[in-house]
Amino acid sequence: MKKRERFGSRFAVIAAMAGSAVGLGNIWRFPYVLGQYGGAAFILVYIAASLLVALPIFFAESVIGRRSGRDTYGAMQLLAPGTAWKWAGLLTILSPLLILSYYSVVGGWSVEFLFKSLSFTFTENASEAEVSGYFGHFISSTWQPILSHTLFMTMVAGVVLGGVKNGIERFSKVAMPLLFVLILFIVGYSLTLPGSRAGVEYLVKPDFSRLNADAYAAALGQAFFSLSLGVGTVLTYASYVKKEENLVVSGVGTAVSDLLFAMIAAFAVMPAVFAAGIEPGSGPGLVFQTLPYIFNKMSQAMPITSALVSIAFFLTILAAALTSAISMLEVGVAYLVDEKGMERRKATLLLAFGTWLLGVLCSLSFGPLAHIKLLGLSFFDFLDALCSNWLLPLGGVLFTLFVGWRMSKADVRDELTNGGTCNVRLFGLVYFLMRYLAPIGIVVVFLSNLFL
Ligand code: TRP
Repeated sequence: MKKRERFGSRFAVIAAMAGSAVGLGNIWRFPYVLGQYGGAAFILVYIAASLLVALPIFFAESVIGRRSGRDTYGAMQLLAPGTAWKWAGLLTILSPLLILSYYSVVGGWSVEFLFKSLSFTFTENASEAEVSGYFGHFISSTWQPILSHTLFMTMVAGVVLGGVKNGIERFSKVAMPLLFVLILFIVGYSLTLPGSRAGVEYLVKPDFSRLNADAYAAALGQAFFSLSLGVGTVLTYASYVKKEENLVVSGVGTAVSDLLFAMIAAFAVMPAVFAAGIEPGSGPGLVFQTLPYIFNKMSQAMPITSALVSIAFFLTILAAALTSAISMLEVGVAYLVDEKGMERRKATLLLAFGTWLLGVLCSLSFGPLAHIKLLGLSFFDFLDALCSNWLLPLGGVLFTLFVGWRMSKADVRDELTNGGTCNVRLFGLVYFLMRYLAPIGIVVVFLSNLFL
């Protein structure tokens, strides 16, 4: 068998893992979820959920991945041969592909908005009504969003075709630092907008009265989505991490980059939302509707800056979405390559095509197929709810239970401490969180989703 590829350095590991984590979840989803649950207070709950529940699951997936050095299915076969755990492996090959199908549609929106920014559509002589209505008009049309979705999926497949080192690692090492620079530039612009102060206050002054049970569930759901948990992406990337790398350091590095990026993105988006006088809880269209509106409005006062920031903004969303989407595709590709002996090229094209087809349905569900409902939801919303509310937490529980209760403590310690050479004192705490707090936390939220 061909030797499996490995990430080249610690920076490469963190860039790839943070690349998976930092995505549409941070820039598009976090600000609007935050807006729906009342700002600063939600942030505190979100940080707690990320560190106490999500991070331990991240470690659990890392342990399984690196211990086995295989894809999710192969890992289960190797570490628990002949048991029903293989179903957990199969489930977590399917779920990232489902997520990718609709994620790529939103990725496509960022492609479209980047093109629009590059042609100065938002910043040159467009009327206010045209700009703010553009989003709704665009996503409900038939061909344009499919074309953008196709372009996005082609780029994702292009990177994954290059392999772990020459594709994923190389791309992430450039994209990740670039993302941080771009988003800081955007924050600078956002904070200078007239009326932006209210947005900053919203993010730093907690209002605990809006924290209900739903908010806790939403915080945990967001933490899961944002750290790419429960669907085998972390597991698969960890299987490419060298034995001498420190898994706790790469996990903490990833979680901190992800939290930091989400916070910075909130400071880029919320002040603009307030400056535009838009309701922060207005839902998924928040980023795509608000920002073009602001760019348009500000283009009279600062034409060049507004045009540049608009390009930077949609480029940021696109690059962030790409590094995440490649991690979703890689899970299935690793499976076909490791278990079925398929060539990487064939595996990538096959899976990219399949998810693209499903994505077309998601895209059409905003327009021509909007009348088709599954359990009262459009196809896009249905897939999102199925994945975010059910498959991610389910996968997360299975992975922590596997590491906490099925694997031997000695093996887990060996993997997290690199044979007793690092993190030895931390291990007790991490193990406790993985074994008790994380699974209990998810189950409680799961049940509250069901019954509240
Ligand atoms: N974490 C990414 C984001 O915030 C999305 C993502 C990548 C993801 N891989 C995942 C979400 C796996 C859930 C599961 O946009």
